[in-house]
Amino acid sequence: MSMAEQLFLLRIVFLLVELILLVGIVWYCVYVTALLVSRYMEVPFVPTDSDAVQAVFDYLRPQKGKRFLEIGFGDGRVICYAVKKYGLLGHGVDTNPVFVHVARMRAWLMGIAHKISFERKDARQASFKQADIIFIFMLPALLHDVQIQHGLQKQAKRGTYVVSHWYPITYFAKQEVFRFSGKDHETYVYKI
Ligand SMILES: C[S@@+](CC[C@H](N)C(=O)[O-])C[C@H]1O[C@@H](n2cnc3c(N)ncnc32)[C@H](O)[C@@H]1O
Repeated sequence: MSMAEQLFLLRIVFLLVELILLVGIVWYCVYVTALLVSRYMEVPFVPTDSDAVQAVFDYLRPQKGKRFLEIGFGDGRVICYAVKKYGLLGHGVDTNPVFVHVARMRAWLMGIAHKISFERKDARQASFKQADIIFIFMLPALLHDVQIQHGLQKQAKRGTYVVSHWYPITYFAKQEVFRFSGKDHETYVYKI
């Protein structure tokens, strides 16, 4: 290889490294912005720990093609895991507009963007009709909000699993089918 060719190759390598760094920096800035915006949301972003997610899915073992709804998807890690690992069809709502982009980018990077839709929407306006599994990690005040209670009790179909991380849903107490006790928190699974 001639000297000129070697230099050209080196330039291409440097360009690629710069591009990767740039994408990393942009991702980091968007993520930090999402976290800052999250402080002003009704429920701030706290990710569900992977042990709890793993335990719940080990219990549910959902079939490919089932519909997974996440209320308040945050950075999208739970919904993307569900779609990637179990071949589910995902839909998520969250009020944080920056997280919508973060989660879309995550799904795109994981090659599952065509199987998930992310919507900027308040949990109270979400439709619970289609879901086979509903995943929620919210504060009790929102879990027990009349509109959400109505959606879960009246819209969701029979047989739907409702997963609530950290807080129990008192009106479903009798329908609890599984509970995971993590290091600091419980995760509750109910069957409608
Ligand atoms: C505790 S985090 C849970 C994140 C994610 N579900 C997880 O388990 O890793 C709560 C999320 O709900 C969103 N959120 C807060 N209030 C909301 C509302 N009224 N409707 C929909 N999403 C909301 C926040 O932006 C945040 O991303």
